[in-house]
Amino acid sequence: MTEIVHVGLEGRAYDIHIGPGLLDRAGALISPLLRRPRVVIISDENVAGLHLETLRKGLEKNGITSEALVLPPGESTKSWRYLEQAVEWLLDQKVERNDVVLAFGGGVIGDLVGFAAAILRRGVRFVQVPTSLLAQVDSSVGGKTGINAPQGKNLIGAFHQPSLVLADTEVLGTLTTRDFLAGYGEVVKYGMLGDSVFFQWLEGNASCAASGDMAARIHAVKRSVEMKAAIVMRDETEQGDRALLNLGHTFCHALEAATGYSDRLLHGEGVAIGCALAFELSARMGLCSQEDPSRVRAHLRDMKMKVDLSDIQGELPDADGLIALMGQDKKVVDGKLRFILARGIGEAFITSDVDPDLVRAVLSDALRARG
Ligand code: GLY
Repeated sequence: MTEIVHVGLEGRAYDIHIGPGLLDRAGALISPLLRRPRVVIISDENVAGLHLETLRKGLEKNGITSEALVLPPGESTKSWRYLEQAVEWLLDQKVERNDVVLAFGGGVIGDLVGFAAAILRRGVRFVQVPTSLLAQVDSSVGGKTGINAPQGKNLIGAFHQPSLVLADTEVLGTLTTRDFLAGYGEVVKYGMLGDSVFFQWLEGNASCAASGDMAARIHAVKRSVEMKAAIVMRDETEQGDRALLNLGHTFCHALEAATGYSDRLLHGEGVAIGCALAFELSARMGLCSQEDPSRVRAHLRDMKMKVDLSDIQGELPDADGLIALMGQDKKVVDGKLRFILARGIGEAFITSDVDPDLVRAVLSDALRARG
């Protein structure tokens, strides 16, 4: 039942394995990378409590010993403080240039540990073992690693591709519904940005995936990863096409900043709302038909996801306040905001040519609908 997606970057190629039971088979899958039968694992308390023993047993089956560092869960772990702790621990463990570090957790752990691996001894190899849906379909693939700065998210980091990704879809069974659906925000994004057939498949099958159907989960993760891999192969360092992966993110980052990067809005929830707003803006610019944003919103509603600004609890800034927050985003180029818009479902493109008054109108209407 395992699917494999190959990321064919020259000199840095790797496979992404997708399927159930991969923690149990981790030893067999990681062995070919090792010069000595030993790995170090960095995880967080939640993931370690649920799954570390299974992973270690899976490694032991192939005679691989392991040491583990367990960090606190949550976005605040993506910081200088925990980067320092991780790097010093890796040095204490006498990790050598030829050793392999395992990042075992969601996006926070993957980004932090990938960055630690990038800078340790000027770069050691690492394996991503993503445990959240968001990490499996997005952050574990493509080599973006890093930590947050007080000035903003992901502002310190490096491109460092993993040597292998093991996306165990069985582990998704321990996610809360909210976390699963937040990750689903990134899945549906792939359909919206580049594959209308996948979007249509999701309209018919995503609820089965959400309620545990393994074949549907594997297909959803595989198609997402295939699309991400193809984009990363074209544009590893985001000089062009890779920015398509940011569909919905210009709005999302403003909403995340407005809600203090808190539980009020998870990243994937912000992506879903951001995609709905990006389609609304596209329709108002006459780029796509009015049916497209309606279809996007209907599907997100069917999935019981956050869709509108009214689904965000508490105060939000006004439209100008949100636009100001967008201006602090990494997607500002030469002082101009860059948007990912769409000519239809599956037909996204990148543009800086957007009338700010129209953005303001879309946001004002969305805020007004909150009542
Ligand atoms: N998460 C967007 C990217 O990897 O480029």
